[in-house]
Amino acid sequence: MKSVVILISGRGSNMRSIVEAGLGANVRAVISNRPDAGGLAYAREHGIATAVVDHTQHPDRAAFDHALAQEIDRHAPDLLVLAGFMRILTPGFVEHYAGRMINIHPSLLPAFTGLHTHRRAIEAGCRIAGVTVHFVTGELDGGPIIAQTAVPVLAGDDETTLAARVLAQEHLLYPRVVRWFLEERLTLQHGRAVLRDEATPAAGALTAPGADD
Ligand code: GAR
Repeated sequence: MKSVVILISGRGSNMRSIVEAGLGANVRAVISNRPDAGGLAYAREHGIATAVVDHTQHPDRAAFDHALAQEIDRHAPDLLVLAGFMRILTPGFVEHYAGRMINIHPSLLPAFTGLHTHRRAIEAGCRIAGVTVHFVTGELDGGPIIAQTAVPVLAGDDETTLAARVLAQEHLLYPRVVRWFLEERLTLQHGRAVLRDEATPAAGALTAPGADD
């Protein structure tokens, strides 16, 4: 069975959505850089191994990333899933997991990389916001896009209401993408995310990521 390690920094609702989608058996470990991350308790309660690699206990990013990679590689995961993991990663770390590390970001990338995405989308007058899942590269929130879901920005929305609408879609999208990878349908090829659609092999077996499955 293909395996997953999930990295979190906080409440871990995306991690939870992956477990609740029936992928819990694939999740070898949930690792946080914060000892107080709320999601750790949920993982423990569901019999999933947890670990903390506290970034404040390491002198620099390289030392932290090295310790983190050691903890991850104990589980030899096929896929590394960043689920609200709020750390900038070093090039060496990114290279080590190239093609097998994905991230979820609460905007329609390439718009609104970084923090406060919902506030910035409202301030910019966007009519549409959303969520992106992408392969992780050295560029912050910038790797090849795998899948996106759009939601409307409604009159009267504030950061909280828009974030909730986007988060509901995050919880649907991330488990789908993780499943594609575990089913060996999703790969990174020449800098693009490629989804093989086994439902329509006669049509050339290749289709755009994000198509219905
Ligand atoms: C999610 O909205 C996720 O998209 C975002 O952090 C939140 C984590 O929530 N990630 C980023 O902003 C990454 N740049 P969660 O801990 O409940 O899954």
